[in-house]
Amino acid sequence: MNFKKVHPDFGIEIKDIKINNAETKEINEILNLFEEYSLIVFKNQKITNEEQLDFAKNFGELEVTKPGTIGTNSNLVILTNMDENGKVVDHSHKQAKNDRANQQWHSDSSFKIHPAHASILNGRITPKIGGSTQFICMRNIYNKLDQSIQKQLDNLDAIHHFAHSRSKIDPTMVSQIELDKFPPVVHPMVKINPINHKKAVYFGSHTKSIKNLSDVESSNLLKYLNDFINNEEYIYSHKWDDNDLIVWDNRSMVHRGQPYEITEPRYLVRATVSDTLSTGTYLS
Ligand code: OGA
Ligand code: MN
Repeated sequence: MNFKKVHPDFGIEIKDIKINNAETKEINEILNLFEEYSLIVFKNQKITNEEQLDFAKNFGELEVTKPGTIGTNSNLVILTNMDENGKVVDHSHKQAKNDRANQQWHSDSSFKIHPAHASILNGRITPKIGGSTQFICMRNIYNKLDQSIQKQLDNLDAIHHFAHSRSKIDPTMVSQIELDKFPPVVHPMVKINPINHKKAVYFGSHTKSIKNLSDVESSNLLKYLNDFINNEEYIYSHKWDDNDLIVWDNRSMVHRGQPYEITEPRYLVRATVSDTLSTGTYLS
């Protein structure tokens, strides 16, 4: 399978595969490349929802879309700034707020006991100006941190809460149903890949605080980490072409959307695979 790197430290682009037509041997190769490179860009994938779901199932068990998101109770998430009539919504609309919430670095569903393993995102309608999706490899971040901080993180857990990431955009945007369904959960701050044992730092916009640290210590360490990762060198910025399909590993990557011309339509479809091997717990 031919591929090229998209960033010196992670991520590849594959041009010569149609994901709706791939053979078992090719799928196995893709699964191995996913574990190794964390991010795969497939160009020119004009696919149906069913084909996207079939491809996603190769990575594991599909997530059911949560309440408060377009696609509730299906296995797809629709990320769009268009309303049901195809009209682009304005700044104050819930969908525009969702977009802004996704513009904070995050790992999908880290607020769940079983967060996301793989996200499989297809750009169906993408803006010409702006609207890139950016990625940072958190294995790379782990390796670049001082050894003393690595050791500290190895022994720390963090509290993730959906309401926390939304509170920064609009505290009223989370419904009571979402609050009840998603109480705070605890995840280790360092995830170890079960196959190759590579370590990745695990935190993002849903991370409210670090367990067993004082409020000040926790916010200082989270600020330090946030400042550390916000370095151009560590970022891969994906400028979408229509029909690109990106698969990324949420165990080892954070991502965020980028602002775009608000009047331009954007329509992306995501299937998400659950990390059933994760070790999250409820905050007791
Ligand atoms: C996502 C996401 C960002 C974007 O699909 O999970 O956060 O660029 N997307 O829309
Ligand atoms: Mn996301």
